[in-house]
Amino acid sequence: MSELATKSVTNPPVATIASLAAHVGDTVTLRGWLYNMRQSGKLLFPIFRDGTGTIQGIVPKAAVSEEVFDRVKSLTQESSVIVTGSVRADSRAPSGFELDVANLEIVHLVPASDPFPISHKEHGTDFLMEHRHLWIRTPRQSAILRIRATIMRAAQEYFDTNGFVRTDPPILTPAACEGTSTLFELDYFGDPAYLTQSGQLYIEATALALGKVYSFGPTFRAEKSKTRRHLTEFWMIEPEVAFMDLEGDMQLAEAFLTHIVTTVLAHHRADLKLIGRDIAKLEAVIAPAVLPEGAGGFSPLNPPATKPGFSPGSSATNKNAVILNEVKDPDELRPATTAGTFSTTEHRPSLFPRLSYDEAHAMLDAAFKAGQLEAPHIYGDDLGSPDETYISSQFDKPVMVHRYPAASKAFYMQPDPLDPTKALCVDVLAPEGYGEIIGGSQRVDSYDLLRARILEHNLPLAAFEWYLDLRRYGSVPHSGFGMGIERAVAWICGLDHVRETIPFPRTLNRIYP
Ligand code: 4AD
Ligand code: MG
Repeated sequence: MSELATKSVTNPPVATIASLAAHVGDTVTLRGWLYNMRQSGKLLFPIFRDGTGTIQGIVPKAAVSEEVFDRVKSLTQESSVIVTGSVRADSRAPSGFELDVANLEIVHLVPASDPFPISHKEHGTDFLMEHRHLWIRTPRQSAILRIRATIMRAAQEYFDTNGFVRTDPPILTPAACEGTSTLFELDYFGDPAYLTQSGQLYIEATALALGKVYSFGPTFRAEKSKTRRHLTEFWMIEPEVAFMDLEGDMQLAEAFLTHIVTTVLAHHRADLKLIGRDIAKLEAVIAPAVLPEGAGGFSPLNPPATKPGFSPGSSATNKNAVILNEVKDPDELRPATTAGTFSTTEHRPSLFPRLSYDEAHAMLDAAFKAGQLEAPHIYGDDLGSPDETYISSQFDKPVMVHRYPAASKAFYMQPDPLDPTKALCVDVLAPEGYGEIIGGSQRVDSYDLLRARILEHNLPLAAFEWYLDLRRYGSVPHSGFGMGIERAVAWICGLDHVRETIPFPRTLNRIYP
């Protein structure tokens, strides 16, 4: 340690690689690590990374002392360094800049006998996951984690700036929220307790105290299947609003997602490019909607025909598109679902397509008959992964599938008064085949119905007495949703698997590192 301490590790006037545009022509000091190095005769081209980006340095033998040249030459991958040099704009450089290195100090030299395990050749996923603590240093993984941080910030920012109070639900809970099959059970001083699956039940209580609330924290599901969409530990952000109906919930989800995508596009174009994301696909999400003529608009503002066989296609490229903005106020078309309810969100025309469950089923049925789906969707069942993939690959905006059969969904969902076999719920499926990123609903507000539902689902009534109190004392219609951050990151970054969306993923087969 004393060897490290003698060097100027602390507090030199440092720049970050991401800020170099403001330092062209200046001499700067960067602190970071050697990512890679190329040598060409008497020229060294070390590539440095510092967590904000990478930059290529140039070290001509003739331009620096022999000592500095040899020091740079001795660098091994991931050795930590403090490097001084002048910044030059270079349009050929991937970052747009290069560093003419004048001096370099080594903070820690990785010994050649024990090199950094992740070399620049291809590695298998298992190997990378086993070395996740080091894998996150690679530019692509770092970029994903930066985007994740912005998605989390934008998500909170949306609620913080729209009158929501953050209220944190407990992580240790006495009862299930999302079904008993995915509970992590633990021993709470002799009583069973569970890691929370969702903060929802608790923020229903805080919503009735504070009006508009949200929670944001880790949630847990003992998912026994290996899929590219499931983690056992993930982060969920959940708003809950008193006096809000399903229509308000859908509007809220749309405004919320629009804010997140807009914020990521405003701050992370370079990172998105680095990871190979097609940025036009994200721009399409927030663009004014255009839909193919005859498609009906898939909005409650313009209810779609239920006939199967339509092909929404890529709305952005359809020549016969119609602008969806011209539709009428939704309240003129849709009867109020519960007397006295209203949407607390700003009233705006919906740009995200909407499909009722029945319409989604018709679409899947048609796809199966056309040979585009391997298995038929059984009417009444929840949508399976291939079903979601199919539907969400048909749209270039997130699509809202609403009013699923009540029997396929959670006990707390309010039945649709127009068809009580359906629940007033919505799943938001991200486009490009990503599937569900948000699940939400209007909640049962009647004491008798909720009590009956708890019993029907074989849930322990005693553990839910407090939850029933919310319907005993000043019950109101209320709604909310939950978005899994990792699903959102996978979609926005265009990743195949959620395991790359969180620093240390927890899955069925992995709890190390
Ligand atoms: O659809 P879910 O199960 O809904 C709820 O938990 C509600 N209580 C939320 C609410 O209404 N307040 O989960 C919500 C979201 C999903 O849409 C998905 O994005 C994410 O949480 N999610 C998972 N993400 C990763 N791995 C898993 N195993 C996930 N399970 C759910
Ligand atoms: Mg769900």
